Amino acid sequence: MYDKASPEVFHDFDIYDLEAHAGDFFDAWLCLQGRDIVWTPRNGGHWIATSGATIEALFGEPALSNAILSVPREYTEHMGFLPLQADAPVHAGYRKPVMQALLPKYIMALEPIIRESARALIEDIRIKGACDFVTDFAEVLPIDTFLTLAGFPTEDRPMLRELGEQLNRPDGTVTPEQLMAMADDYLRPHVLARLEAPGRDLLSIILAAGVAGRPWQPDEAMRLARNLLFGGLDTVAALLGFVFNHLVDSREQREALASDPKLAPKAALELTRRFASALTTRVATADIVAADVQIMAGDLVLLPPLLYNLDPRCFDRPLEVDFNRDATRHLGMGSGAHRCVGANLVQLELLIVLEEWFRVLPNFTRTVGQPTRMRGGGVGSMATLPLTMSNRA
Ligand code: HEM
Repeated sequence: MYDKASPEVFHDFDIYDLEAHAGDFFDAWLCLQGRDIVWTPRNGGHWIATSGATIEALFGEPALSNAILSVPREYTEHMGFLPLQADAPVHAGYRKPVMQALLPKYIMALEPIIRESARALIEDIRIKGACDFVTDFAEVLPIDTFLTLAGFPTEDRPMLRELGEQLNRPDGTVTPEQLMAMADDYLRPHVLARLEAPGRDLLSIILAAGVAGRPWQPDEAMRLARNLLFGGLDTVAALLGFVFNHLVDSREQREALASDPKLAPKAALELTRRFASALTTRVATADIVAADVQIMAGDLVLLPPLLYNLDPRCFDRPLEVDFNRDATRHLGMGSGAHRCVGANLVQLELLIVLEEWFRVLPNFTRTVGQPTRMRGGGVGSMATLPLTMSNRA
């Protein structure tokens, strides 16, 4: 049995630092493969589950709480996201109305509006002939999607872009607490108005459904809106960025998507398996043993779903993007009680992007002389992806 002082489990790994790995987010994580669990002293010190089997098992471990979801712990300790930071038994009451409102039959109503947003962004890029895919597309579409889902006015887009920018590309001028306060100031009037008089939007539907047979309290409703807002901005932006960073180098797959739009649903699922980059963390509420290590109450345990998705014991040839593979069991959206409630929406967004983009812009290259960069952290992402369209239809 090992503990955090054992040299056998020690691995100096900083989730924010990609320097040692030539700036490549996925390569950085792949260097942890071959073990079950490691301890790093970085970011306050924490465990990292590294094999697919250990990651999957710890997602179901009742002695691991969602009260802290990040390293360092200060980043999320006071966020109070609902349902994400609630534990059993109260968690189910918060999750149920959200799950019900985000069932495929309801989110399909958002489809034409998301498609329209995607088309408009793609048309701008077609006219310009070049873009930074990250700032011109990947970070914008999720904001439009959130506005649609919550029924907020499209005039709020610039305000949300500012928030999204601080979330996606923190420049150090805003602390996590300040970012939360900015989000709350923005959300409060909209949320209170929906509690008072629900509209037809999905946020209103969730609020009107109540929590375990009683109404949502204003503070709980704010924590829910915060979770929906922050849950779907940087995560979707990151996924889109990595997907296009892959497709720019894969002419064959670009041609396949352009010539056969029916490929898009399977491609979206496989690309999510390969490139979903959100990590999560748990805090131990009791001493437990996992994969032959002693985890003490209070310890943080980081669960990187991507190491499950890229474990050869979980998926054959895991680094390869294969549109024909059955990728349904991937853990990119988490696993167990807290599995992402937005998973269907994410697949819809990615599907729409693949269909709309490849209908108009099947050929593009990296822009010569402008570097591509990635960023580490709780949601690894593309920092910049300059693309040039090579056929201006
Ligand atoms: C590619 C995009 C996304 C990825 C990779 C992603 C990933 C995840 C993961 C891994 C979890 C589980 C976290 C944990 O167990 O600690 C989660 C939960 C959650 N996600 Fe997402 N997510 C994405 C998009 C979205 C969107 C668009 C929304 C909003 C509609 C959303 C809302 C949520 C919420 C509310 C939870 C908490 C569920 C619960 O606690 O029961 N996510 N997500």
